[in-house]
Amino acid sequence: MATRLLHISDLHVGTQESPPVERALEGLIERLEPELVIASGDLTHRGLPEQHAAAAAFLRSLGLPVLAIPGNHDIPYTFPARFTRTFDEFERHWETTQPVFSSESLHVIGLNSVRAWRHQSGGIREEQLQRATKLLAEAPPGSLRVVTMHHQMIGAPWRSGKKPVARRSHVLATLVDAGAELILGGHIHQASVAERHEFEVVTGELRGVIVSIAPGLGQPRPQRRGEARGLHVYECEPGAIRVETYVWRDDDWGLTAVRRFARGREPLAVESAS
Ligand SMILES: [Fe+2]
Ligand SMILES: [Fe+2]
Repeated sequence: MATRLLHISDLHVGTQESPPVERALEGLIERLEPELVIASGDLTHRGLPEQHAAAAAFLRSLGLPVLAIPGNHDIPYTFPARFTRTFDEFERHWETTQPVFSSESLHVIGLNSVRAWRHQSGGIREEQLQRATKLLAEAPPGSLRVVTMHHQMIGAPWRSGKKPVARRSHVLATLVDAGAELILGGHIHQASVAERHEFEVVTGELRGVIVSIAPGLGQPRPQRRGEARGLHVYECEPGAIRVETYVWRDDDWGLTAVRRFARGREPLAVESAS
């Protein structure tokens, strides 16, 4: 069976509750049978204990392994807790802010890009990159090597003043050199997907990499344009990775885009017209 990965982000539990969205997500999971759910931060809106408890209960109710990392909304909103108990509530439910999931087919590294002293912008420290490099080297042969953080590596198509992760080029280059094939994020509440060969001349043994930002699953600002509720599904094919974008349309998830990228150095095979 194909290896699939469900990527949701920015649930913002504590704002707009939407039972139909949650129920339809269960249907999608039943149909697609992903191996893992990745929740790339902003699980809650204000980082409150009851919001963390509700977010964790929802994610655990999906009946699949969940790899969750914190977003800038998952830490206390007020001082001094923001600095003294930054990740206490998150860790109460998820144990660590930098989880790892590894199976024969998937090897996923979570990175915590949240900086308590910066409300919006995120960063990855050098020691985190070193840890990710070491962990990526331990990936089972042939497994899909994935790194996820909350802050975005590529920008939003629609308006957004949110800055990408600090030292973006350095972080991206380090993770690619370390073998990451799929780098995930959220934070901007809009889908954005690109593969390295689309924006860089890649020569020799250098690998490609897909950078993918999931739309927000929640909708903390219902009046705001340009923030469809959505999610991503990734599927490994022989020599290719498929990225599917689903968005919420009235009462169900609609498959809105399917993108296929070459995995590794070989170009995608073109299907014959016959
Ligand atoms: Fe968010
Ligand atoms: Fe965020």
